[in-house]
Amino acid sequence: MVNLSAAEETLQHVAQEVSNCQRCQLHYSRKNAVPGEGPANACIMFIGEGPGFHENEQGRPFVGAAGRYLDELLEKIGMQRSEVFIGNVIKCRPPSNRDPLPEELAACGDYLERQIQAINPQVIVTLGRFSMARFLQNVKISEVHGQSFQVRGRLVLPMFHPAAALHQPSLKPQLERDFASLPDLITLKDKATPVESQNDTQPKAEPKQLSLF
Ligand code: URA
Repeated sequence: MVNLSAAEETLQHVAQEVSNCQRCQLHYSRKNAVPGEGPANACIMFIGEGPGFHENEQGRPFVGAAGRYLDELLEKIGMQRSEVFIGNVIKCRPPSNRDPLPEELAACGDYLERQIQAINPQVIVTLGRFSMARFLQNVKISEVHGQSFQVRGRLVLPMFHPAAALHQPSLKPQLERDFASLPDLITLKDKATPVESQNDTQPKAEPKQLSLF
């Protein structure tokens, strides 16, 4: 019999619920829900926006062009995808990759929260504006990317979405610099800007569109 840790068990339950989820209209058009994947004891949790075409086909996060770039970024800092948890703020692909609607983000919020609680990562890296908005409101990604914030006891590091950098190559050096700061951050995790008053349960601001994948 496999002996699962409590965290692994929670992740499995969440994944099962996500696969059968009918909380919002996205379940009508999805092929596969994408709960996210990675070890339950991951130090770093990456949170993207939502599944695109390839993720919907395979039921796995970041497996298209943005995912290949994410793998490259990890390799450059000596890490592998298998060491980190990779998830999204929404678990089903919006039709034609449109932006997630507030009710879709709200419907998925509890799944992500349970994943965060179970993994208890040292650092949460938000990829793109929708993911950042879950933790940090009224900030611009162009101004805060690469800076770490303490949000209700969690270290949050906002970064540009890899798909944004693929569409706008001038963002690549910034994204690569932000990734380069990650290994140190895991060891220096207490040196972050406190923003304890931020509510990390639901996005408050309506982020601008990022129709990139
Ligand atoms: N973009 C995301 O935000 N998430 C994925 O899983 C794939 C692409």
